[in-house]
Amino acid sequence: MNMGFTFRNVGIYALVLLMASGMAMGAAPRKAVNVPFGRNYVPTWAFDHIKYFNGGNEIQLLLDKYTGTGFQSKGSYLFGHFSMNIRMVPGDSAGTVTAFYLSSQNSEHDEIDFEFLGNRSGQPYILQTNVFTGGKGDREQRIFLWFDPTKDFHSYSILWNLYQIVFLVDDIPIRVFKNSKDLGVKFPFNQPMKLYSSLWNADDWATRGGLEKTDWSKAPFIAAYKGFHIDGCESSVNAKFCATQGQRWWDQKAFQDLDAYQYRRLKWVRERFTIYNYCADRKRFPTMAPECKRDRDA
Ligand SMILES: *[C@@H]1O[C@H](CO)[C@@H](O)[C@H](O)[C@H]1NC(C)=O
Repeated sequence: MNMGFTFRNVGIYALVLLMASGMAMGAAPRKAVNVPFGRNYVPTWAFDHIKYFNGGNEIQLLLDKYTGTGFQSKGSYLFGHFSMNIRMVPGDSAGTVTAFYLSSQNSEHDEIDFEFLGNRSGQPYILQTNVFTGGKGDREQRIFLWFDPTKDFHSYSILWNLYQIVFLVDDIPIRVFKNSKDLGVKFPFNQPMKLYSSLWNADDWATRGGLEKTDWSKAPFIAAYKGFHIDGCESSVNAKFCATQGQRWWDQKAFQDLDAYQYRRLKWVRERFTIYNYCADRKRFPTMAPECKRDRDA
């Protein structure tokens, strides 16, 4: 087989695909290139457990038996696309949880969560997602990933507009939470959120439901981060503008729903990697949450 020829074809094919998708998406999302931590984020607690590399373009969070640590965005955002490149704790990470989420700061709060539950060496991480609207959560979904998240950086992102909240892993949608206001379900639309990330000990519940305890002889546990660009409407700067629709790329038609290809990818993830879905948990929820109607369609 002539490898050179094959690769050249793949290259041309990829180029055509790129051009086609670029045209369809209109104003395409900008990619996060080397934005240092300090531009958009500040440490939240245990400052000495955050390490900085490469001029702050990469950081590491450390967890030991004394403390975990975390950071948060300086700004608050109303809608946008929020992503982070994370390499999870390698080796024995049982009992640890690494989180990346958006949350508003009031009592009836909105929240959009990625939580990564560690495991014993060689055992798979679990990715748990959740959505709180108006203070109500209980919308957990859990999946295994199709790769080992401790080997390399992968991108975890959230698209949030007035139509939907999409969770993406390496740009593949793994969950969609549609605006189901018509079904009486609150949807985050008026409470600005900050981004948060943290690494902490949760061995009372995280791994095999709390059966596996954190092995402190393996500390410090280290999660690495990069890509600190934030593509959101900063409401602290102009709240009125953020509330007006149709201005930003994430409001455009192409981002109001998944396209056919994205639905196929979502289906693939859900069929092959789902561990738990609150929409299917009849024991816990004898009456299915109204938005689950749409979750089934997805
Ligand atoms: C850890 O590994 C066990 C055994 O493979 C698995 O049952 C469990 O779902 C994995 N993940 C967590 C976070 O418990």
